[in-house]
Amino acid sequence: MHDLQITPLGYAMGAEVTGLDLTKPLDDLTRRRVYDAWLKHVVLVFPGNAHLTPEQHIAFSRNFGELDTHESQAPETLLEGNREILVVSNKPRAGRPSQTRNTGRNWHTDLSYSLRPAKAAALLCKEKPAVGGDTMWANLTMAYETLSPKMQAIIADMEAVHDVTLVRGLNQRDPALVADMRRRNPPVVHPMVRVHPETGRKSLLAGERVSHILGLTEDESQALLGFLNQHATSPEFVFRHRWRVGDIVLWDNRCTCHVALPDFDQTQPRHMLRCSMKGEAEGRLAEAGPAATKEQMIQTVASLS
Ligand code: SIN
Repeated sequence: MHDLQITPLGYAMGAEVTGLDLTKPLDDLTRRRVYDAWLKHVVLVFPGNAHLTPEQHIAFSRNFGELDTHESQAPETLLEGNREILVVSNKPRAGRPSQTRNTGRNWHTDLSYSLRPAKAAALLCKEKPAVGGDTMWANLTMAYETLSPKMQAIIADMEAVHDVTLVRGLNQRDPALVADMRRRNPPVVHPMVRVHPETGRKSLLAGERVSHILGLTEDESQALLGFLNQHATSPEFVFRHRWRVGDIVLWDNRCTCHVALPDFDQTQPRHMLRCSMKGEAEGRLAEAGPAATKEQMIQTVASLS
């Protein structure tokens, strides 16, 4: 039995978990308590894990779901010998600039551009800049629940297209790898409102990697997405984590989005290892074509009259 302590860190979400030795398997009771705390606090911080081996990081992450082997990612971005670990780092790899040096720079839900957005992620901080390089999460359940009933009804059946090309900074990466990412991840459709498979609560699936809402014109889509994203990421719903080397942060990707802030000296290393757990919900491939423009609507109306 571990001397487990769970200390809330934020109003919107976040708690710190201490008293665990993550180099060893969790017993069933401890695992259940941590899992329940995770469902309740959404983002959990486990400090003091700098020494964890990749195998221990993977074993710990498995407590929260089946691990993704990152078919959606270029192999160059994974830890050598461990397909389960994505290296999010600004340190050069094999003498070349890291392809994940600007990962996570706009608000997103992990892998929403794939058919199965992640269930969860466990991100381990191995190296960090002296200041900055924080990560912020937004609680999308709170965001949904604080919409008016009318707005909830408006978006209830809406679906949106998630597009890997909207990952901020993609154009700074190796064109061959970007082409590979695009090939692996054609645009996909997900509902705008999700029901959490474990808590039953509804949340918004928005973020800055959504190109448009199906059935709306481009202008309507941008206006509604702009409002929903601004609402979802307003400070009341946000938890901000200031990393310490050795922190593992575990988040529930089914009801949050997050952003990795570039507010640090890029000559200093920021080196993180991420395990992702496979999501339960499946989207579908988007049919080709963006939202209709106003001009196209005018032509449609003109051809009918
Ligand atoms: C991510 O988007 O998963 C990376 C987050 C971070 O590096 O803080």
